[in-house]
Amino acid sequence: MDNLQTQGISLPRLGLGTFRMQGDTCRAAVESALALGYRHIDTAEMYGNEEAIGAALSSAAIARNDLHITTKVWHDNLAPDAIQRAFDASLKKLRVDHVDLYLVHWPSRNMRLSAIFETLMRLKEEGRTRAIGVANFTTALLKTVVEEIKAPIACNQLEYHVMLDQGAVLKYLAAKSIPLVAYCPLAQGRVASDETLAKIGAKHGASAAQVALKWLLDQPGVAAIPKASRRESQKANLDALTINLDDEDRKAIAALPKDRRCVNPSFAPAWDR
Ligand SMILES: NC(=O)c1ccc[n+]([C@@H]2O[C@H](COP(=O)([O-])OP(=O)(O)OC[C@H]3O[C@@H](n4cnc5c(N)ncnc54)[C@H](OP(=O)(O)O)[C@@H]3O)[C@@H](O)[C@H]2O)c1
Repeated sequence: MDNLQTQGISLPRLGLGTFRMQGDTCRAAVESALALGYRHIDTAEMYGNEEAIGAALSSAAIARNDLHITTKVWHDNLAPDAIQRAFDASLKKLRVDHVDLYLVHWPSRNMRLSAIFETLMRLKEEGRTRAIGVANFTTALLKTVVEEIKAPIACNQLEYHVMLDQGAVLKYLAAKSIPLVAYCPLAQGRVASDETLAKIGAKHGASAAQVALKWLLDQPGVAAIPKASRRESQKANLDALTINLDDEDRKAIAALPKDRRCVNPSFAPAWDR
C-alpha cells in the first residue's frame, strides 16, 4: 500500500476507522483488517475502544514497526497535566510503548495552543509518540500552530468526502506539505446509495463506496480512514485502490453537492468556507 511521508513517519494512505466499534466487535474487526493487510488503525480516547484494539494488536503477530497507530486526546483534556494522563492511559490500553501519531481531537475555545504543543512535543521527544498532529483544525488555527508555534504537525484529520468541499483548508495544507487524513470518507455510509457514484462504479465493476474512496485517494497528500466492521467492506475498501477513475468520472463527482457535512457538534470551530 502507498504511504505518505510526513514528519518522519510513513503513513499508510488507507487506514481503518474505529469510531462506534467497541468490545469484542471492535477486536474482531481490527483482527480481520490486520489479516487483510491493513496496517493503519485510527482510534481515540473518546471512542472507548483502545483496550479492544490493544487486544487485537497483541494477538496479531505483526512487528510493531510495520504498524501505524493513531490515537487522540479529547478536547476537555487539553491542559498539560490532563494530556499527560490521557496519553499514559491510551498507551496502557493499547498495550504499546509508543503510538505513531497523537492528535488533538478537537480544538476547544479556551485551549492554550502553545502549552498543548509544548506537551505534545515533549511526548514526541521522549519517543512515546513518533509524530503529533491535529484534527478538526481550521486554516486560521493551523496558521497559529504552524507559523507561530512552529509545531511539526504531521496531519490534519478532517471530514472529507465526495459530498463535502474542503478546498480552502486543502490549499493551505498542500502549501505546507501537511497531509489531510479524511474521516467519514464514505459520508458515514451515505455514499453507498448515491446514484451518480453507483453509475460510475458500474462502469469499472466497482461499488459506489469504492468510487468515493478512490476519488479521495487519487488526491496527493490525502489519506482516508473508512470504518468498516464487516470483512467484506474492509476488503472492498482495500480493493478500491485498484480502480482507475477517468476525467468523465471526476467531472460527475465534481457536480455532486459539496455541503453535506456529517459531523458538526456544538463545540466545533467556525469551519472554513
Ligand atoms: N477526528 C474526528 O473528529 C473524527 C470524526 C469522525 C470520525 N473519525 C474517524 O474516521 C473514521 C471513519 O468515519 P465514520 O466511521 O464516521 O464514517 P465512514 O467511514 O464514512 O462510514 C462508515 C460506514 O460506512 C460503511 N461502509 C464501510 N465500507 C463500506 C463499503 N465498502 N461499502 C458500503 N458501506 C461501507 C460502514 O459499515 P460497516 O461498519 O457495517 O461495515 C459504516 O456504516 C471513524 O471510524 C473514526 O476513526 C474521526
